[in-house]
Amino acid sequence: MSFIAWDGSLAIGHKVIDAQHESLVGLINRLHTAQSQGKAQQEIKLVLMELYKYTLFHFNEEEALMRGADYAFYAGHRAEHEKFICALDVLAEEAKAEDSHVSSETFTWLVGWLLDHISAVDRKLVACLQK
Ligand code: FEO
Repeated sequence: MSFIAWDGSLAIGHKVIDAQHESLVGLINRLHTAQSQGKAQQEIKLVLMELYKYTLFHFNEEEALMRGADYAFYAGHRAEHEKFICALDVLAEEAKAEDSHVSSETFTWLVGWLLDHISAVDRKLVACLQK
C-alpha cells in the first residue's frame, strides 16, 4: 500500500501539472518504502537524488508557466518552491549519515508541505491559467 494515495482529490485540473505531481508522489512513496523496508543506503540515496532532480524539473516547468502567463503571485509561489528545495537539502544531508536514516519529522514535513502546496498554491495557479 502506498504511503500517499494518488486520488482525484490531488488532481487540480491541469493535465501536465497533475501528471508531474503524480510522479512526485510516486517518488515520495518509493523513498518511504525504501526507508521503511530498511533498504541499502545506496538505494535511498538514489531515490532521493531522483526526487531532487524531478522536483527541480517540475518547479522549473511551473515557474515557466507562471512567467508565460505574467502570473501576479509568481514571487510568492517561487519562494514556496525554494522552501521545499531547502527541505530536500536537509534530507540529502541526513541520507549521508552511515545509517541513511531520514528523520520522520523531516519526512512528515515534506509530505505535508507537498500536499498543502498542491491543494492551495498550485490550485490557485491552475485556476488563473485557465482564465
Ligand atoms: Fe507543483 Fe508549485 O509546485
